[in-house]
Amino acid sequence: MGHRAPEVVEVVWKIPLSDIAMGREEDEAVRDVLRSRWLSMGPVTEEFEAAFARYLGVKHAFAVSNGTAALHIAHAVLGIGSGDEVITPSLTFVATANSILYCGAKPIFADIRGNNDLNISWEEVAAKISEKTQAITVVHYGGYACDMRPIMEIAHDHDLRVIEDAAHAIGATYRGQRCGTIGDIGCFSFFANKNLSTGEGGMIVTDDDLLAEKIRTMRSHGMTTLTWDRHRGHSSSYDVVDLGYNYRMCEVASALGIVQLRHLEQKNERRRQIVDRYRKTLAGIEGITCPFGGKTNGVSSYHIFPVILSADLPRIGFQGALKKRGIQTSVHYPPVHLFTYYRRLLGDTRGSLPKTEFVGEHEVTLPLYPGMTDDDADYICTAIEGAVSR
Ligand SMILES: Cc1ncc(COP(=O)(O)O)c(C=O)c1O
Repeated sequence: MGHRAPEVVEVVWKIPLSDIAMGREEDEAVRDVLRSRWLSMGPVTEEFEAAFARYLGVKHAFAVSNGTAALHIAHAVLGIGSGDEVITPSLTFVATANSILYCGAKPIFADIRGNNDLNISWEEVAAKISEKTQAITVVHYGGYACDMRPIMEIAHDHDLRVIEDAAHAIGATYRGQRCGTIGDIGCFSFFANKNLSTGEGGMIVTDDDLLAEKIRTMRSHGMTTLTWDRHRGHSSSYDVVDLGYNYRMCEVASALGIVQLRHLEQKNERRRQIVDRYRKTLAGIEGITCPFGGKTNGVSSYHIFPVILSADLPRIGFQGALKKRGIQTSVHYPPVHLFTYYRRLLGDTRGSLPKTEFVGEHEVTLPLYPGMTDDDADYICTAIEGAVSR
């Protein structure tokens, strides 16, 4: 007798965790690319890179296939390799740490500041420095800037490089400076759920001319010219000067990126309004705290909206109650150092990052996207009130 596959019941969310915000302009931009009959990296990507560099106020921006590729290249061009250590948070998406492993180096996880500031703690970074440390890779969690001033001072004092994983932080600032432009290299993601979305995509930015040249070749097999250069007749051949990768972005994605960048500020502002509404309503509900409250060191891009449940409020039940009302939630993040692969590789270090582990167990991410209405936010807050008062 054959086995019947278990029936998969697809959940239709009343309010999903995130949603893309695209319209007629994106449709037309993609159609224009298709009509141009040039799909691989070319003039539209160059235009996107120039616009992105202008927006950030940075000298060089290189479009790549995704944010993970940007992080991989960033570590590689800084010469990080076997025997090196890179200090990074564990409360992040696994790609941050994976990109260190791709280079043969070891991620050294530093704890976060606490339940209000979920970013890496500079005191913890300082405590983790060894003679093998080469770099600090920070993540601007949720689009809220890390305290970069002490981190840059530590890096300067110990001659370390700084990579900013700004996947969440497109449009965010730290003391007036754009996130991603403060360290040696900034990495962005344009994954479907990001504030600027191209489906898959990423950008790597730097002010350093030497690093820029390396990044330019590394993202395309270490080759000195592109197919587009040869098509234009700018070059008839190429040399390979490094071991590179195929991390190029395609023209369709870049076309989406150009339009999305134009609307970014307005969409981030709408995210801010929803976050304000959430904060005001949730402030009165016992058992829930909203991180990054009070005075912050810059303007957030409001990528996600995390809340921390009190230790006596079981997360499963809380998420289940919201799910019953059609509200999708998530967890940012299961800590990287607790994943099976990382425990196998680096040893079981459970208990070593108590603040990260607490957030890993008690954080819930609520829906946040520009198309959400005030009524959606109120509906979610009412559902939360019901969930905590059971
Ligand atoms: C903090 C962080 N770093 C890196 C990445 C990787 O980006 P991508 O999915 O574009 O490879 C993500 C994306 O999900 C992320 O959230």
